[in-house]
Amino acid sequence: MKKKSGFLVAFEGIDGSGKSTLSRLVFNELTALSIPTVLTKEPGGTKIGQKIRAIVHEHVLTPQAEFLLFAADRSEHITGVIIPALDDGKIVLSDRMADSSRAYQGYGRGIDLKLIDGVTQWVMQGIKPDLIIYCKIDAATAFNRIVQRKEELTVFEREKTQFFERVIQGFEKIFDSQSAVLVVDATQSPQALCTQVIAELRRRLENVA
Ligand code: TYD
Repeated sequence: MKKKSGFLVAFEGIDGSGKSTLSRLVFNELTALSIPTVLTKEPGGTKIGQKIRAIVHEHVLTPQAEFLLFAADRSEHITGVIIPALDDGKIVLSDRMADSSRAYQGYGRGIDLKLIDGVTQWVMQGIKPDLIIYCKIDAATAFNRIVQRKEELTVFEREKTQFFERVIQGFEKIFDSQSAVLVVDATQSPQALCTQVIAELRRRLENVA
């Protein structure tokens, strides 16, 4: 395991759960407190990752190709963004990480979890989130939010509700027995959620005064 001095927080949840808004609010709050913080995302946290993100968004791929592209994106992200920021002692907020692969490609698409975990451990080089924020929401509420945004739907957002039900069940199983997870009720306002995340960071970190 590589030693690191920063603190890694991953935001997880289905599409429309509000992770991106929440992670941005938390970033703004920490930055206002003068705490060195990096906001990043998977897929698309690097230049190569943005190209990979465009491919997985626009094309219906085999589950295998889809997973390997997310793994390639993760590899670039870990090496190019996450490790350098953690080595600098920063708080790193990542909008999605490896548990999205377990939930979407594992529980959603049916890829063997052992295979996913093997590749994931390999690309993550021993790095694990210190805290995961799971934005818990039901599929119907999340889907309504996506439709209201009126953006063009991605490959994932065009999936049927059953797919999202499987992904939600996956997230529930993944986070059921883990201690470094804060489960938040993502139907609340972004500001209320941000307050809960900052309170949790205060409990876990001395410099978030
Ligand atoms: P994107 O628009 O980049 O972000 P988000 O929906 O989180 O705001 O879309 C990423 C999509 O990719 C999203 O539908 C979840 C999916 N995804 C996976 O299926 N597996 C993964 O490992 C990751 C990181 C994302």
